[in-house]
Amino acid sequence: MVGLLSHHSIRGDGVREYEIRSLRTLAEFRECERIQAGVWGSPAATRELLSVIAKYGGVVLGAFGGRNMAGFLYAILARRRGRLIHWSHMMAVRTGFRDRGLGFKMKLAHRKLALAQGIKSICWTFDPLQTRNAALNVARLGATIEEYLPDCYGRFPSAIERGLASDRFVVNWKIAAQSVERRLSEGARPLDISGVPRANETTVNSDDFLVNWRIQLHLSAGRLLVEIPSNTDSMRARDIELAARWRNETRRIFQNYFKSGYLVRDFIPPSEATNGKCYYLLRRAGKGG
Ligand SMILES: CC(C)(COP(=O)(O)OP(=O)(O)OC[C@H]1O[C@@H](n2cnc3c(N)ncnc32)[C@H](O)[C@@H]1OP(=O)(O)O)[C@@H](O)C(=O)NCCC(=O)NCCS
Repeated sequence: MVGLLSHHSIRGDGVREYEIRSLRTLAEFRECERIQAGVWGSPAATRELLSVIAKYGGVVLGAFGGRNMAGFLYAILARRRGRLIHWSHMMAVRTGFRDRGLGFKMKLAHRKLALAQGIKSICWTFDPLQTRNAALNVARLGATIEEYLPDCYGRFPSAIERGLASDRFVVNWKIAAQSVERRLSEGARPLDISGVPRANETTVNSDDFLVNWRIQLHLSAGRLLVEIPSNTDSMRARDIELAARWRNETRRIFQNYFKSGYLVRDFIPPSEATNGKCYYLLRRAGKGG
């Protein structure tokens, strides 16, 4: 039986309705392979693996518009820091279906399933320089970033990050926490970041790409901002050396401040109010949660 988890109209697509549901059949898992091939260049999670995960304690969800699968996610039952969690290794939405809230809906559906299983934490990794992921994971879902893993999976020729080391943030989405409940029901409130010290200061080069001109690794305020470019994909395509420089510089900044007890607690997406800039907000553990 396929479990119907939610049925929503998605923003930006007033007519079609999308549903999020558990996947069970080999045909559906084959479709997941196709989505992976489109997004990363090759399918790392095969239909065999996905069918095992779906049957034995993990979660495999698909987002459907009619009969067409627009995205999927999968997670395995795992143990982290002594607790059973869901480790969500992959989520992907086909390019033409992004920014309609499908990623958000799949995460909500996953949360509901995990809570029903008594799971309180869903973890996964993402590239710190992918601002769409940061907007979804941190700003919308209210997840916390707890670790920085340099070159986590080694170099791989994925279509998304060819040419860069595969650095990752480890996200902990505390799905039963009040702070998460609040973020999901109320959304992100505008943050007043005036006066918050910046670990990096940037300027724009002749190609219109963001460049760091000053990096400070010894700040000690309760809150700090780290600015990142909102267009890493085009930077990587057009100026791989600058993208690699961003990789190295942000690696230094995050590793340094994580070591000093800071965590990433929020993300400020690009908007008119920020002049198109986007920032991670770091907070020292114990300073206001
Ligand atoms: C990550 C991914 C699954 C998100 O799916 P999605 O359906 O587009 O996600 P949503 O629409 O729910 O959320 C995207 C958010 O990013 C925002 N966004 C889009 N482009 C952005 C950018 N350049 N900078 C910052 N935020 C951006 C959107 O506005 C949206 O936020 P909002 O809902 O507050 O408006 C999809 O982008 C994807 O498949 N990426 C490639 C694979 C990947 O990185 N997977 C995750 C790691 S395994």
